[in-house]
Order: sequence, then structure tokens, then C-alpha cells
Amino acid sequence: MERRDFFRKSLLAAAGSVVLGSGIVKAVGSLNTKNNSTMKITVLTGSPRRNGNSAYLAEQFIKGAQEKGHEIYRFDCAFKQVEPCRACNRCGMDGPCVIKDDFNELRPHLLAADMVVFATPMYYFGISAQMKRVIDRFYAINGQIKGHYKKAAYLMTYADTAKKEAEPILLHYRTLMDYLGWESVGEVVASGVWTAGSIRNTRYGEQAYQLGKSL
Ligand SMILES: Cc1cc2nc3c(=O)[nH]c(=O)nc-3n(C[C@H](O)[C@H](O)[C@H](O)COP(=O)(O)O)c2cc1C
Repeated sequence: MERRDFFRKSLLAAAGSVVLGSGIVKAVGSLNTKNNSTMKITVLTGSPRRNGNSAYLAEQFIKGAQEKGHEIYRFDCAFKQVEPCRACNRCGMDGPCVIKDDFNELRPHLLAADMVVFATPMYYFGISAQMKRVIDRFYAINGQIKGHYKKAAYLMTYADTAKKEAEPILLHYRTLMDYLGWESVGEVVASGVWTAGSIRNTRYGEQAYQLGKSL
């Protein structure tokens, strides 16, 4: 598929939402967000370290959110069998994917989610490949998630401390949220954490917990 078609298709999907939208998009949004009510929250983790730093942020976020009564579905990308998108375009960005793997398990939880949380380590200034291949599979449900309001949050960890080095990964996340029309309600950017578990001695766990608790 040509790049311009990707955008054209996306615009069509967005236009569809807008057509429905005078009223209905708002209604979908309010159905999804259920203010002052419980939300379905899908948490994607991206690290192959089960007890690593980003997993810890995810756990703290989940703890806070569960204390507020929200329903959590957690999908650990690194421990699932999810192939990369083959770009066959048989889905047409809005249909069944030809690949039958663990993405099928995640799909209904993405569609039903009021909120999606991404918890990833920084790998070479980007998100982990384990999470990226899952995000790329959003392609097959693009028409069902783009322009359909959800909240989102980003939890990320990296070893260095330079703020500038976190800019590309944050820009990616924010651009993706803009594209999908989702509202980011928080980012926890944990710098200076290298070894698995070193984040436990920092303030970032509390930040993730408070983010979950604030919902
Ligand atoms: C393949 C790989 C690439 C990495 N790239 C970076 C990087 O670009 N910048 C950085 O500061 N840390 C980098 N790190 C360190 C991790 O981001 C850091 O250890 C993080 O806290 C790991 O989170 P986790 O415990 O959730 O896996 C890299 C680590 C690995 C294994």
C-alpha cells in the first residue's frame, strides 16, 4: 500500500467518525470514558524482563487503577506470539488479519478498552520491538480504533538521564495519540534506571501508582 493511501484510508476512517460524530462520536466517547465510573483498561507491556523497570511501572499503575475499581486486562507483548504485520493489506486496515496468533486474544480488549496504557523500555531511542510489532498489528483494526475516543497513558524507562534522549520516543507516542484521536492523560518518564528493579528505589513507581489512582 502506498503511504499516501495509508493517510487517505485514515482520513476516510476519521471522516466516518465525524459523519457519525455530530453527537454520536461524543456519545461513543462518553460511553467509553464513563466518567466517574469504572473503565476497562488494557495495559500493554513491552519488556522481555518480567521483573524489569517498565513492568514495575505497569504494576504500580495497575495497583492504583484497581483500587479505584477499574477493570484491567494486561497483555505482555514480549511473552506472546505476535508476528509482525506482513503488509499484505488483506485486512484493508479494517478487517480480519490473515495472521492467526496471540493478537486475536488482544484484539477484543483493544476494541472494548476505555483506556490503553503503554509500558515500555527505551530501546535505541524508540519503543521496544516487542511492543512495536503489536502496535503495527493495530493496522488490521485501524478503522475501528482511529477516531474512537480512548484515554491513554505512557510509562517508559531508560538508562540515561538526558531529557533530550527521551524526546523521540515521546514524540512517537504523542503523534500516535494525535493520529488515533486518543487522549493521553499521563506520562511517566523514568530516567536513570538500568538494571532490572533499580526503579524500585526511585519516585517513579509512586508516580505510576498515583496516575492509576487518579482515574
Ligand atoms: C536492546 C536495548 C537497547 C537499549 N537502548 C537504550 C537507549 O537507547 N537509551 C537508554 O538510555 N537506555 C537503553 N537501554 C536500557 C533500558 O532502556 C533500561 O535498562 C530500561 O530501564 C529497561 O527497562 P526494563 O527493565 O523494563 O526492560 C537499552 C537496553 C536494551 C536491552
